[in-house]
Amino acid sequence: MTCKRIVELGARAYPIHIGPDLLPKLGAHCAEEKMGSKTLIVSDDHVDALYGGVAEESLRSVGLVTARVTVPAGEPSKSHDPLIRIYHAALDAGLERSSSIVALGGGVVGDLAGFAAATYLRGIRLIQVPTSLLAMVDSAVGGKTGINLPQGKNLIGAFYQPSMVLADTATLRTLPPREFCAGLAEVVKYGVIADAGLFDALEGKTPEILMNDDALLEDIICRSCEIKADVVRDDEREGGVRAILNFGHTLGHAIEQVSGYGRYLHGEAIAMGMVYAARLSERELAFPAKDTERLIRLLKALRLPVTMPDLSWPALMEAMRHDKKKTGGTVGFVLAQSLGAVRFGCALPETLLNEVWEQNRDTGESRAP
Ligand SMILES: NC(=O)c1ccc[n+]([C@@H]2O[C@H](COP(=O)([O-])OP(=O)(O)OC[C@H]3O[C@@H](n4cnc5c(N)ncnc54)[C@H](O)[C@@H]3O)[C@@H](O)[C@H]2O)c1
Repeated sequence: MTCKRIVELGARAYPIHIGPDLLPKLGAHCAEEKMGSKTLIVSDDHVDALYGGVAEESLRSVGLVTARVTVPAGEPSKSHDPLIRIYHAALDAGLERSSSIVALGGGVVGDLAGFAAATYLRGIRLIQVPTSLLAMVDSAVGGKTGINLPQGKNLIGAFYQPSMVLADTATLRTLPPREFCAGLAEVVKYGVIADAGLFDALEGKTPEILMNDDALLEDIICRSCEIKADVVRDDEREGGVRAILNFGHTLGHAIEQVSGYGRYLHGEAIAMGMVYAARLSERELAFPAKDTERLIRLLKALRLPVTMPDLSWPALMEAMRHDKKKTGGTVGFVLAQSLGAVRFGCALPETLLNEVWEQNRDTGESRAP
């Protein structure tokens, strides 16, 4: 079984293919989309060792001239030097305007190779082949690409849509469990912002999800991509409604930054940020407290942290003020009205932000087991 969704962006519309054992069919899908005759596969060293050969063989089997370049696994590769390395590899491989870059890996590779594709020869085709759950449900779809600077994350980048996304769910079997659970945080987010039915399904099928049930994973990845594709269709460049994808991210980003990137995975920080946003939502939009409790139970069951971490509140507040999503000097939160419905751009007084933070730390009710 595979599923196919289209991101409806007029002339730049593209398909997302999701299902088990799709990687060996990468070449056939590229041929179908008339992707040009030369490709460069960009991957990290973990993923390349596992899947680089299969991807290359598949592309070659349909007559594509293919080269491979790898960067070290991990966030530090989303930076200047690896980017230059990719440009050199692209030149060495003779990539032309009609050629393609294939981003094979997690969100780091997707963002880095995506930015290389956006800028090499002023833009060549990009094929996203996400192999982490986070990349499948989030970063490979939507067109945000970029690299970090020492001063901060994602400070250089471009909106650049891929020509195709191909997510082989069988690759998730080798993903480390902690990374898998971190990806599930973004799936929970889609439930909260847009689909109470997805939230119910996650609650009802937690053990099966954690056991990597193929059909179930395909369903939840498909639904997640559908939600993201709809949001991107309505607001490609984050001028408005796309902000809802940031539910839990305002505090989540601050937690990542203040804890020094590395203590928490992105999805783990977002899990804590979602609990915080839900508590704020109770106060501001009468979001039912019982639904915050459901959110906490679900995140805990998915092995995600839900207790506010032991970090300095002034430092977190400062990080939130500097977050690029702030508007007019106030921090803009995404808050939930009910499961499946949210509002964005909610400016809240700092006294309330502090009070809810303190309450969550003090009661201990959201503490992970
Ligand atoms: N562009 C966007 O819209 C967007 C959205 C969210 C996050 N991001 C970015 O995504 C990045 C995080 O992505 P990530 O969580 O995928 O991290 P990642 O790319 O670092 O991958 C996590 C780890 O898993 C390994 N891995 C990936 N797939 C594997 C597989 N199938 N089997 C074994 N190991 C595998 C990688 O080698 C790496 O060690 C961050 O840089 C973040 O800023 C971008």
